[in-house]
Amino acid sequence: MPPLGAVFFEKMQSFKGRDILDINDFSKDELLYVLNAAKEFDPEFVKSKRSNYTLAQGKIAALLFFEPSTRTEQSFSSAAQKIGMGIIGFNDPKATSIHKGESFSDTIRIMDSYADVLIIRHPESGSAKKAAEVAQIPVINAGDGPNQHPTQTLLDLYTMMKEAGKLDGITIAFMGDLKYGRTVHALSLALSHFKVKQIFISHSTLKMPDEFLKVLKERGVAFEECDRLPESLEADFLYQTRVQKERFKDLDEYKKVKDKFILDASFKKYLDKGVKLMHPLPRVNEIDPVLDHHPNAIYFKQARNGLYIREALLTLVLGRI
Ligand code: NCD
Repeated sequence: MPPLGAVFFEKMQSFKGRDILDINDFSKDELLYVLNAAKEFDPEFVKSKRSNYTLAQGKIAALLFFEPSTRTEQSFSSAAQKIGMGIIGFNDPKATSIHKGESFSDTIRIMDSYADVLIIRHPESGSAKKAAEVAQIPVINAGDGPNQHPTQTLLDLYTMMKEAGKLDGITIAFMGDLKYGRTVHALSLALSHFKVKQIFISHSTLKMPDEFLKVLKERGVAFEECDRLPESLEADFLYQTRVQKERFKDLDEYKKVKDKFILDASFKKYLDKGVKLMHPLPRVNEIDPVLDHHPNAIYFKQARNGLYIREALLTLVLGRI
C-alpha cells in the first residue's frame, strides 16, 4: 500500500464534516486515503501499544437503525467506542416517537442536536441523503435499502488490498446474486478505478445488470461473464454472495435459483490453489462451513476489517486525523 502522507494526498479535500453517502462520490485518491487511514487502527500494521481511545473522546455517535443489522450496527458501535466516543440511538424504531407518527426529518433533526455524527440504516433508497439534507453534522450511510452501503465497499477494498498487497493487477470473480446484490454493484464500480479484471459468475436470471456492465465498458475495465464456476478459475479472489430472497417478487423464482451456486467441500481445491474466498455475510447455505478453517477462506477476517474502516471514517469525518 502507498504510504499515508501529506504529499501523496495533498490535493484532496478534507474529510472533516463530510457525509459518507455513496461510494461513487469517492475519487481513487480518496478511496486510497481511507484504506490507508484504516491501517492506523489495524493491529496487523500498528505494532506499538498506541491507544486510540482518546481520539474522539467527548464526541457522540448516534446509531439510527431503522432496519435490523448485526455486523454493521455492532461494528460501528465498537469502532466508535474504541476511539472514545459515546453512543446513543436505536435499532427498533417502534420504541421511538416514530411510532407516534413523528416524521423522519423531525427524528433526524432531534438526533442531530444530541450527537456529533449520525450513522443511519434505513430500508428506503435515498434515506441517508435525505437525512444529510436535514442534519448539520456528518451523516454516514450504513445501508439504504437496495441502493448503497459504502462502508461495506470500503472494507471489501481494504481486505483485498491487505491480502494481495495491492489492487492494480488483481482479478476478482463475483458469484451468486449479481442482479440484486448491492455489495457486488458498489464493489465492482469502486474497483473500476483500478486495473482489476472482473469475472461475473451467475445463473442467467441473476446476471450483473447491463447498466453496471455499460459503465465498466466505458471505463475500459476487462471483464467476462460465465454461467458456471470455471474449473480453471484464474482469480485472486472469489466474492461469493447470498441470493437476496427479500428482493424477489415471486418466491418460486427464488426457489429455482437459490441452490445453484453454492460452494461445498469440493471448493477446497480452489482455496488450495490460492483463490481467497470472500463474502459480505450473512451467509445462508452458499458456503459450506467445512471450508471455514481454510486459511484462504477470509470472510470472517473481512468482517473484522470493517472495524478498522469504521474507526478510520469516524475519526476522519470528526477531523481528528
Ligand atoms: C450485504 C448487504 O447488507 O447488502 N451484507 C453486508 O453488507 N454485510 C449482503 C447481504 O445481505 O447478503
